[in-house]
Amino acid sequence: MIDVILTRRSIRRFSDRPVEEEKLKRLLEAAMQAPSAKNERPWEFLVVRGKETLEALSQIDPYAGAMKNSALGIVLLCNKGKYLPEEDTFWQQDMAAAAENLLLAAHGQGLGAVWLAIAPIPERIARAAELLELPAQVIPFAMLPIGYPQAAKPADPRYEAWRVFYETYPHD
Ligand SMILES: Cc1cc2nc3c(=O)[nH]c(=O)nc-3n(C[C@H](O)[C@H](O)[C@H](O)COP(=O)(O)O)c2cc1C
Repeated sequence: MIDVILTRRSIRRFSDRPVEEEKLKRLLEAAMQAPSAKNERPWEFLVVRGKETLEALSQIDPYAGAMKNSALGIVLLCNKGKYLPEEDTFWQQDMAAAAENLLLAAHGQGLGAVWLAIAPIPERIARAAELLELPAQVIPFAMLPIGYPQAAKPADPRYEAWRVFYETYPHD
């Protein structure tokens, strides 16, 4: 587990190899196993394989290009209308936990992925919602292109001891 976490990298270029159904199922299982406030699990997942839709999603903002070369994309949706009866201030954290589980489950299965942010930027939400014809209560949170990496990416160790304090926060 720790090895998967420490070696995960963002993958933005993919080979043509398709993603097996069993691996996709495991990805979605991992996503839905994430913790969420009050266990409300406000998420839904739109799996996109259609090249035209992937291409269109890659253009919703200047940083979404990785979407177009992937075997598939998973758009993480928050169905506020269905799962969040009251105004819920934690839904983005719920969705982020699911997204991270997806990234780790992808890497753990030899796949690559990258987190392409949609929320909380209103223009991105509006463009993705229009493109995917989402009902008003369903908010696109992020999208993850997924596929077999075109090339392996080395780990990038980031542990920095000076960011950690014990018992009290130091003051100059
Ligand atoms: C909230 C969030 C938003 C991100 N948005 C984008 C994005 O729009 N486009 C992109 O190519 N990468 C995006 N990334 C990926 C980051 O650039 C990447 O995680 C970071 O550079 C660290 O590299 P690593 O994932 O290889 O460890 C995003 C990551 C997070 C957590």
